[in-house]
Amino acid sequence: MKKLFALLIAASLISAVATLVIAGSNVPEEVTFTPRFGTVTFNHAEHLSVGDCASCHHTGAYVTCSSCHGTQPGISNAKDAFHASCIDCHKEAQKGPVGCRACHVN
Ligand code: HEC
Ligand code: HEC
Ligand code: HEC
Ligand code: HEC
Repeated sequence: MKKLFALLIAASLISAVATLVIAGSNVPEEVTFTPRFGTVTFNHAEHLSVGDCASCHHTGAYVTCSSCHGTQPGISNAKDAFHASCIDCHKEAQKGPVGCRACHVN
């Protein structure tokens, strides 16, 4: 029981640091992708000021992009969708990384 309680405290501390609650959904502060080409860190919290939720989550469903892209027929794969979303906006904004190794570190 004591152990379970300690675990619950640990879990709630982690989620308090790692997520923001916005309109009832748990929004991660940071998302890390680990493709073979190199790790990409997306600071979600910093990106909340660059556009509204729908400018990235175009469907309004706050789920992972790969729950459709790369997993459902007729929809572009995850690499193309991420590159189009991330890189096109950075080019347009003239801010944020556009070079391969500026985003895929290591
Ligand atoms: C600049 C683009 C961008 C904006 C703006 C944005 N998000 Fe995200 N969000 C993302 C990306 C990219 C992910 C990671 C998706 C993945 O792991 O495939 C994500 C992940 C999430 C997740 C976690 C999904 C999961 O199941 O892991 C939630 C919840 C979420 N966003 C909610 C929001 C809400 C609410 C807003 C507006 C307040 C918002 N987002 C604004 C790009 C954005
Ligand atoms: C519920 C399903 C679903 C989710 C979740 C989803 N998409 Fe999409 N997305 C679509 C559909 C359908 C299209 C239109 C068909 C196409 O162009 O592949 C699309 C098109 C796109 C396009 C334009 C086509 C391209 O690949 O250049 C981009 C960019 C994109 N999505 C990015 C994202 C990002 C980033 C996320 C996560 C933050 C996301 N999508 C989450 C279904 C989804
Ligand atoms: C709607 C526009 C938009 C989208 C979509 C977007 N970004 Fe950005 N990003 C920006 C802007 C604007 C900045 C510069 C912020 C600043 O300097 O104040 C930035 C900065 C960054 C930075 C450097 C600063 C930091 O936050 O560490 C990284 C890394 C980054 N973006 C990664 C990504 C990734 C990965 C994606 C896709 C999953 C993405 N971005 C999608 C607009 C966008
Ligand atoms: C703005 C950030 C950003 C930039 C710039 C960028 N990428 Fe990506 N890339 C991503 C994200 C996010 C993913 C999706 C990772 C995932 O789905 O796990 C990805 C996926 C990939 C993948 C597929 C994953 C794999 O290893 O199988 C490859 C290959 C790739 N990128 C190569 C490149 C190359 C080459 C360039 C330069 C021309 C580039 N990327 C520029 C963010 C970026």
